[in-house]
This record gives sequence, C-alpha cells and structure tokens, in this order.
Amino acid sequence: MELQLDQVTKQYGEKLAVDRLDMSLEPGVYGLLGANGAGKTTLMRLICDILNPTSGVISYCHQDIHQMGEQYRNILGYLPQKFGYYPEFTALRFLLYMSALKGLDRTAAAERSIELLKLTGLLQEKDKKIKTFSGGMQRRLGIAQAMLNDPYILVLDEPTSGLDPKERVRFRNLISSFSKDKIVLLSTHIVADVEYIADKIFIMKEGRFIKTGTLEEIISETEGIVWECEVSPVMAASMEEKYTIVNVKRKGDKTILRIVSEERPSKDAVKTEATLEDIYLHYFSREGEEPYGTAVSF
Ligand SMILES: Nc1ncnc2c1ncn2[C@@H]1O[C@H](COP(=O)(O)OP(=O)(O)O)[C@@H](O)[C@H]1O
Ligand SMILES: [Mg+2]
Repeated sequence: MELQLDQVTKQYGEKLAVDRLDMSLEPGVYGLLGANGAGKTTLMRLICDILNPTSGVISYCHQDIHQMGEQYRNILGYLPQKFGYYPEFTALRFLLYMSALKGLDRTAAAERSIELLKLTGLLQEKDKKIKTFSGGMQRRLGIAQAMLNDPYILVLDEPTSGLDPKERVRFRNLISSFSKDKIVLLSTHIVADVEYIADKIFIMKEGRFIKTGTLEEIISETEGIVWECEVSPVMAASMEEKYTIVNVKRKGDKTILRIVSEERPSKDAVKTEATLEDIYLHYFSREGEEPYGTAVSF
C-alpha cells in the first residue's frame, strides 16, 4: 500500500516548481516544510491528481494514479490550501453536500458526517452557518470533509495556517488521531507543526528536498551550524548585521547570541546542537527579505 513518486517534475512555463522528486510513502505522518513558493502546493496537487506532472510518474501500489482515476480518488482525501466553505451552509449540510459530490451512499453519509463532527469537536455547531465559524472551526470542518470517504491517503495543505497556538495544538492532536494506518501528508511553513507530529520530514526549497528524514536524523546530520557566544551589546549589534541570529538573551551587561552560521562567527563562539527551527532558518532566513516568489539560492 505504497505511494511512490519517481522523478516527478512540474513546470509552469519556464518556472520549475517541482524538480525531479522521489518519494516513497507508507502509512505514517509526513511533514512537508518550506517557505512560500517552495513548491508544496504544487507537489500536493500532483499527488492528488489535480495536476499532471511534466515528467515522472506517481504510482499507488505500482499503478499510475492518473490511470487509476476514480479508483484513486476514492481512497484520497484532500484539504486544499484555499478552500471555499459555502458560508450560508450549516456545517452538517456542508458535509452532506460534500458526501454527495464524492458519491457516498446517503445513509452512510449522514452517519459519517455526524461521526466526523464529533471527532472534530463541531457536533454542537452542526446547525450553525459556516460564516459564523472561527478560522479554527473552519479548518476543522475542512479536515472533516477530507475524511468523509475514510481515505487511505490524506493530503492537508497548510492545515494550521491562520490558527492561534491553542487551536494549532488541538489540530495537531486531531491529525495524529486520524493518522493510524493512513498516509498523511501535510504541508506547513511552521516548524513546530512537523516537529511534533511528523514521522518523517521533507524540507523543501525551490522544488527540491534539501533535507529528508526523521527529526532526529535531520538534527544529527546537521552539525556545526549553530553557535552561542557572549558579547557586548555593541558587538551584538554588529554581529546582527552579519549573521542570522536566532535568539538574543541578556546576561548582566553581556548579550548571549544564538547564531546560525556555517563558519565560526567569533573566536570564542561555542558550537551547540541545532534544533529544527535553527536548520529551517539556516536555509530560509534570507527569504523573508526577498519579494514573494524570488527565492534566494544558498
Ligand atoms: N499556476 C501557476 N502558474 C505559474 N506559476 C505558478 C503556478 N502555481 C505556482 N506557481 C509558482 O510555482 C512555485 C511554487 O508554488 P507553490 O507550489 O504554490 O509553492 P508553496 O505552496 O510552497 O508556496 C512558486 O514560484 C509559484 O509562484
Ligand atoms: Mg502553498
């Protein structure tokens, strides 16, 4: 029961959005981590057979997903990044409507909808119009609709975007509880989302995976990029211009800087273990300063 990507590429005109990616997914939670424009949504739309690869093949149990057609869609659940929520529908009516679109049997659909409203903590809200829902409630309803057909492959594009920290925790727990015996692929630009729930992390940049592995693997193979040094406030200011500073702490009249850098930033800097956030900032820190879409190479 394996989903396999073999040298999958997607080009929009000149723009290479997904670049010769290989992936092999068995049941588990997979986190796709990357900045805006990295290619996450494109990759997910390819996996959902909404886009066709420019080259390469995506297969499920050794069958090309595009050839499988409806048979593949029946085992797939998808929460798009941008999702129209039918503001005038109630939560329950929306799920029944989506069930009909997915061709589910009416009685089964009603039962399943109630079950999912319960699981997503929305049962009390089932008769309220979606336009009255908070962002978090809408996202929960989004995951509920993706689960209607009890999919074996669940694809969630930025499921936690726009959620406050408390809702984010709740959402992570929800995804974990759904993920048993399923392939769950979620994208995010928030490090903590994948840090806590992903069995395997793919850090994506410019259409490529620049790091792949479990959290522990990625951390243990990233050596010598994080430093701590104790400097005067004046020195701290000048180092901030030169380096990516991920944390600043005061200690008496000194400043302790946590710096991400491939070279030792100062003579007395001490090497420390990287966190996933350090690694992410190492690869993406300069991107925030660039206009959207023009990623810097590293
Ligand atoms: N329909 C499209 N036509 C042209 N370029 C696109 C299209 N969709 C996305 N892109 C470009 O492809 C790259 C990857 O986009 P996307 O997959 O949306 O990344 P992410 O989801 O990681 O933000 C970006 O540079 C984006 O501007
Ligand atoms: Mg996206």
